[in-house]
Amino acid sequence: MGLKVGVLASGRGSNFKAVLDHIRFGVLKNVEVAVLVSNKSDANALKIADEYGVKAAVIVPKVPREKVSEFFDREAVKILEENGADLVILAGYMRVLTPYIIGKYRWKMMNIHPALLPSFPGLHAQRQALEHGVKVSGCTVHYVDEGVDTGPIILQCPVLIREDDTEEKLSDRIRVYEHRLYSKAIQLHADGRLRVEDRKVMIDYSDDWERRWNERQSSYLKYQAEMWRKEGKPLEELLG
Ligand code: GRF
Repeated sequence: MGLKVGVLASGRGSNFKAVLDHIRFGVLKNVEVAVLVSNKSDANALKIADEYGVKAAVIVPKVPREKVSEFFDREAVKILEENGADLVILAGYMRVLTPYIIGKYRWKMMNIHPALLPSFPGLHAQRQALEHGVKVSGCTVHYVDEGVDTGPIILQCPVLIREDDTEEKLSDRIRVYEHRLYSKAIQLHADGRLRVEDRKVMIDYSDDWERRWNERQSSYLKYQAEMWRKEGKPLEELLG
């Protein structure tokens, strides 16, 4: 039986869509998205779930303000458990999680962050990187622990900063790599190739794992290039 993924998303959902496309193209193997959970009834991620025939749930808070976080996480766990999620991925989920849900999914919950952690955690990571004047930023997939973007790092990908960068341009370039990286981390997890030792994630790339992954992913890369071209941002120009 394959790995069942539960996705938590609040907004655009482009990383969620990238995972679904990796499944559709047979790049991600033995992985299915069991359910999408959102805290926003107008999240674009819900439209994507509908388009791809993925079950979705929206959590609407019905408790006083100080109890909202606890309420969200209890509801989310209930939905994730009902749908048999083995792995939870955060895909632009704009809520801070409580220790309750983090404890439930220790090393079974991932996040993607648009910077090379531990630099620039939290909100507006791309803006932080530009304002700091770093020459390289990128994206990070990590397991979730109790801190904000502090969990054990699984994969990272660098993106060079350009002198004429804007927050939007840098975010777009980082997003191209996010969409490739998240599925790779999910496949490594699904294949049982990740092991957390203290705060390090050890990766077993034996048996040519990475070459086989790259070969499979090439079909997604072609589709991705086509998508960005349709959006008027050809990757040749965007990535240069
Ligand atoms: C991404 O930049 C991701 O790194 C961050 O939130 C953003 C989500 O974008 N955690 P999307 O909703 O997947 O398009």
